Amino acid sequence: MTAQSASLMVIFGATGDLAQRMLLPSLYGLQRDGYLRADLKVLCTGRSELTQDAFRQSVIEAIERRYSAAERDAAHLSALLDRIHYQAAGLNDEASLGALIETIKSLRSGDVVYHLSTAPRFYAQICAALGAAGLAGPGTRALLEKPIGHDLASSIEINDGVGRVFEEERIFRVDHYLGKEGVQNLLALRFGNALFEPLWNARHIAQVQITVAETVGVEGRGDYYDTSGAMRDMLQNHLLQLLCLTAMEPPSQFDPSAVRNEKLKVLRSLRPIDREDAASHSVAGQYTAGAIDGVAVPGYRDELGRSSDTETFVALRAHVDNWRWSGVPFYLRTGKRMPRRCTEIFLQFRKVPHSIFGEDARIQPNALVIQLQPEERISLMLMNKTPGLDRDGLKFSQVALDLDLHETFEHAHRRLAYERLYLDALEGNGTLFVRRDETEAAWIWVDGIFKSWADAGMKPKTYPAGTWGPASSVALIERHGDSWRE
Ligand code: BG6
Repeated sequence: MTAQSASLMVIFGATGDLAQRMLLPSLYGLQRDGYLRADLKVLCTGRSELTQDAFRQSVIEAIERRYSAAERDAAHLSALLDRIHYQAAGLNDEASLGALIETIKSLRSGDVVYHLSTAPRFYAQICAALGAAGLAGPGTRALLEKPIGHDLASSIEINDGVGRVFEEERIFRVDHYLGKEGVQNLLALRFGNALFEPLWNARHIAQVQITVAETVGVEGRGDYYDTSGAMRDMLQNHLLQLLCLTAMEPPSQFDPSAVRNEKLKVLRSLRPIDREDAASHSVAGQYTAGAIDGVAVPGYRDELGRSSDTETFVALRAHVDNWRWSGVPFYLRTGKRMPRRCTEIFLQFRKVPHSIFGEDARIQPNALVIQLQPEERISLMLMNKTPGLDRDGLKFSQVALDLDLHETFEHAHRRLAYERLYLDALEGNGTLFVRRDETEAAWIWVDGIFKSWADAGMKPKTYPAGTWGPASSVALIERHGDSWRE
């Protein structure tokens, strides 16, 4: 543990869904494995008037939902509860906010991490209150949840508001995908092995696909989701971060500036998708009623209870215009109510330059598949001779060199993304957080696509729940002789 590790964490929005599903269980994981410093205190706040006991009960239930009985134990749970203090505060209510500020003052004994997990419109206001109370100086950090805005203009407004109080180095923007083991392993795979780098470029890679498919619908978050959609909710952040880590140049070291400088260069190299390209390079979709795993599910509009043109699926044909990737399409695709949950990066290599076995041998290009969810797995697809005496010429089969990371590291705990992110934030390491210029570069590109859609009058096409999106998503890729990996 480094010297600057924080001794107080304040979670705003602690009664919300994210806190209950991820944040509090992550603290338990860190507590259980001895990663929290002995004197760390956690001040949780939300609008609900709850007693300490009622809040602690909600913590217990959140942990029980996340961890099996075998993964929990009473001593660690009680040690975590001892650290937690709940205090209600209405952000528009000066008296309760003032009381919260007094509590923070009384609990503060060193560095502080403020995790802002409220609606982003409150970020500037919370930061201003902390700043005015002298609680936002050196040694304090602000951890911000997405969405940082709805477009470039609103993200600038939020970033300016927070930036008036916290300098950029003390602002930690969360993209929880960066906290995932599999995502960090992408960096390990690329930069811990000499094998891939010589092949990692347009000379050897023909196409890249990044898919983040979910089977869930909007899960009671319709009001938020409908103002957001797949592009803002997933593509602007998670998919673009995966794209950055796949496409970036090797940073000189694994530190916040070096890594984020390289990611930024990728975002700034994304070719704009103009109005003329909108129909051929992008598809928006919205699910209608269908079935997933044989279970009937309603359509998006039925779930929402009203009509809407929000996209629940988006597919893009993107290009990173630089020397390394010139001419290589990056197909990005994300959607709700897809047939199965799957997050993966697929790199297809170029064909052999000449087949000595003739056309009948059907030699397929090699491919590297990096699956991040639901299982972490790396597969290298190779061509192999199909055993036999080959009287009609050699036959080939595609086989996989398969690495199941859960099996290989079966004794390692499966961590929640926030365990890693919380620990890094407590210790002040921003490498796995998003810098302001990255968010803004991502918005510039995404805003351009929305403008093209509006100019071209494009609306989402429907797809039945349980399918891989509208038919035009297939056309988007097949038009170029490629096909989605499914
Ligand atoms: C969140 C989105 O950022 O990521 C959700 O707001 C989405 O809509 C979630 O379901 C997916 O995260 P994960 O970790 O389940 O892949």
